[in-house]
Amino acid sequence: MAYNFSLVVAILALSLSVIVTATDNSALQDFCVSDPQGQVLVNGLVCKDPKVVEANDFFFSGLHIAGNTSNPSGSKVTPVAATQLPGLNTLGISIARIDYAPWGINPPHTHPRASEILTVLDGYLEVGFVTSNPENRHIRKVLQKGDVFVFPVGLVHYQRNVGNINAVAIAALSSQNPGVITVGNAVFGSTPEIATDVLVKAFHLDETTIGYLQSKFKN
Ligand SMILES: *[C@@H]1O[C@H](CO)[C@@H](O)[C@H](O)[C@H]1NC(C)=O
Repeated sequence: MAYNFSLVVAILALSLSVIVTATDNSALQDFCVSDPQGQVLVNGLVCKDPKVVEANDFFFSGLHIAGNTSNPSGSKVTPVAATQLPGLNTLGISIARIDYAPWGINPPHTHPRASEILTVLDGYLEVGFVTSNPENRHIRKVLQKGDVFVFPVGLVHYQRNVGNINAVAIAALSSQNPGVITVGNAVFGSTPEIATDVLVKAFHLDETTIGYLQSKFKN
């Protein structure tokens, strides 16, 4: 009886452990600083020889500098991912600074590989994300300095500066290479274009309107 009980506990513990290990795999070494000269294609970047790794491989400088928001959306993202900071390779995290001109927006987009946690350093931001089908629930909130908000992995989200002053935020992401898919660019700005007929039916619009939207998103 006692034997059976411990067996049940063991099986229960095992099944629980399966549930809680739904994360990235653990690293098998202290670090894998990326080697920009590496020619082998792997999931991530090739490791630099650990013997020649130095402090600067784990370092980036420049997030004190405001991004230039003189562009149509009125925002600028300054990413610090594995490309900018080689020591992030294989670690599953990255960070970015986002600047917003008054009433500027960071347009609706998704990160296919990362959840994002955003901290407002200055200003007032309206933030929102939309849940997946069929609900497509829009969850939104206005944030101020010191507020933190999370965008769950994969969901379409955006930010808008709702103040008359510049806004600044720091976004931390759960991938060394989160990826960005901006909805408008992906749908109307692809190369080559998605067939007009597909977009006409998908968006319930006529061909002229689709052509106009495609011209707006042309690279
Ligand atoms: C910001 O970008 C605009 C548009 O590209 C450019 O005209 C302007 O010189 C830039 N400002 C600075 C300070 O770099």
